[in-house]
Amino acid sequence: MQGKQRVFSGVQPSGNLHLGNYLGALKNWVSIQDLYENYFCIVDLHAITVPQDPKVLRQKVREVAAVYLAVGLDPEKSVIFRQSRVSGHAELAWLLNCVARVGELSRMTQFKDKARKGGAEAASVGLYDYPVLMAADILLYNAHLVPVGEDQRQHLELTRTLARRFNHTYGETFVVPEPMILRTGARVMALDAPTEKMSKSSPRPASYISTLDEPDTIRRKTRRAVTDSGTEITAAPDKPAITNLLDIYSAMTGRLVADLEEDYRGKGYGDFKKDLA
Ligand code: AQP
Repeated sequence: MQGKQRVFSGVQPSGNLHLGNYLGALKNWVSIQDLYENYFCIVDLHAITVPQDPKVLRQKVREVAAVYLAVGLDPEKSVIFRQSRVSGHAELAWLLNCVARVGELSRMTQFKDKARKGGAEAASVGLYDYPVLMAADILLYNAHLVPVGEDQRQHLELTRTLARRFNHTYGETFVVPEPMILRTGARVMALDAPTEKMSKSSPRPASYISTLDEPDTIRRKTRRAVTDSGTEITAAPDKPAITNLLDIYSAMTGRLVADLEEDYRGKGYGDFKKDLA
């Protein structure tokens, strides 16, 4: 592994891993694992920033580990581990807490969204501090690259800011990491509400395709995915539903959206969804 650049990324064991997690993160991890020195983490300390049943959480940690292996991560090529087993994550998070600013954390849109759903006053300090723990995860390994979905871009930018500030104040210590965000599949939207991100913690199973759904369930959910007015299968700002489905199709097959639009010219949503499923 010597001489290779280092990659770090992780997923929270906070629900059912879905197609967004797969296309935004896991699929890319697998495709680059020969090129880099890889650390793929199950970030259970992040999961407890919202209430968890300890028994369920333990099961979910094992389930995420199984999904990592099932999608093609190879333990011979990638270090796969559980965040809470390495105390350095929490220890470095404290040091970075003393460098991060309240104003910076208050601007994090993911905290604002999640806190709004549960009531900001009731949100845990851990949820507020989530981006600093994420920075610690990455900087602890001096990772050069962080393959994530688009929703993590702001957190990655904060990680870079904290690394630079620490280095400036205390001397060169951390590698300043770069995000690795692909063009397709970086922001998969909910099947039943295409203006919302597909999310693990959604209470609506029809909104996501789980990596553990049976083929029939995947077909049913795809068939029932909402569509836009009109019948054309084209990506456009006023067609968020079909744009999302085309993006998923493109990310799954590696084909360009423009080519898919051409293939389905004159055809209906039924044919398109059947092929996509
Ligand atoms: N909808 C998405 N499209 C593309 N990528 C996505 N990711 C998440 N949702 C999408 C990427 O998956 C990786 C792991 O995410 P996470 O477990 O850290 O949590 P998250 O980003 O908060 O994702 P969820 O699924 O929405 O979880 P909950 O509901 O628990 O918050 C990251 O690389 C993320 O970008």
